[in-house]
Amino acid sequence: MVVLDKVTKVFPGGVEALKGISLDIKKGDIYGIIGLSGAGKSTLLRCINGLETPTSGRVLVEGREVEALNKKELQELRQSIGMLFQSFNLFEAKKVFDNVAYPLKLKKVSKELQEKEVMKMLRLVGLDDKAQAYPNQLSGGQKQRVALARALISGPKILLLDEATSALDSATGQAVLELIEKIKEELDLTVILITHDLEVVRSICNQVAILEGGQLLGAGPIGEMFRGSHIRKIRQDLVIPPGVIKGRGLLLTFSGESAKEPIISNLIKEMGLDVNILLGKIEYVDHEPLGNLLVEIDSTQEDQVVSYLESKGVQVEVYYENN
Ligand SMILES: Nc1ncnc2c1ncn2[C@@H]1O[C@H](COP(=O)(O)OP(=O)(O)O)[C@@H](O)[C@H]1O
Ligand SMILES: [Mg+2]
Repeated sequence: MVVLDKVTKVFPGGVEALKGISLDIKKGDIYGIIGLSGAGKSTLLRCINGLETPTSGRVLVEGREVEALNKKELQELRQSIGMLFQSFNLFEAKKVFDNVAYPLKLKKVSKELQEKEVMKMLRLVGLDDKAQAYPNQLSGGQKQRVALARALISGPKILLLDEATSALDSATGQAVLELIEKIKEELDLTVILITHDLEVVRSICNQVAILEGGQLLGAGPIGEMFRGSHIRKIRQDLVIPPGVIKGRGLLLTFSGESAKEPIISNLIKEMGLDVNILLGKIEYVDHEPLGNLLVEIDSTQEDQVVSYLESKGVQVEVYYENN
């Protein structure tokens, strides 16, 4: 559906926002692009919808090279891509109905058809009772659902989300994501979602690409990427305050069978070894448990503990080093 082939973007002034990014986004994917602020995510998205031209490399949408499109084709491309932003970008002076109808009005669609299509879309996002309300009478989550209805009204095949849930509290954001997941099936969409929030990716994406400083650290199915080490560079949930660890902090990753066994309690019982757990988390990625424990181990026992854990299929890596 969308292919990026060695895309680079250098802005005037020399900022290299993208450094040779290649991605293959398939029809029906909910593809997450995650990275910290300044990683190049928005620039990447703007290369996909033709708002930005790559300095080198190619972007293909449904097999057609974006840069080669003429003005009219580029306009058609933009119409086949729905966009959703962090700031909902609604027309405050227009009613919900007119906000959603706006793209149809521009295309000179008849009043009758507008009425039918808009109400159908508002029902889909669960806001048909708000058609006559103004945006300032709505909650943040409702505003984003109006923006979603407007983004989808022209029947796009691709939906691009740029931090679309970042301004919402987590429960509201989650509800919007679930709605998108449901609508995606009904409308046969491919969704590309950029975010700095791991939780967003974990909850709805099937694929994820990790960006750092304009570089692609890795891309693939989320289960694989969450178990790998690249994701750690952008994790903000596995962090402890400085000074807590006196020696080395080891990060243990449990996945597959090792996530289901009481390995730590066996380690303590069978081997008589001590483990000081500093932070722990089990999350479900793609319906499979994935555990992370940050531990400190007496340095005289470290080799024994590490070899025991590794023999049980636990990944062990040095996460903090305090000297
Ligand atoms: N129009 C622009 N001109 C110059 N530099 C830009 C422009 N847009 C973005 N940048 C720079 O490119 C880098 C990536 O920005 P951006 O794609 O917005 O990152 P993200 O969305 O991941 O936060 C940043 O260093 C940013 O300052
Ligand atoms: Mg951005």
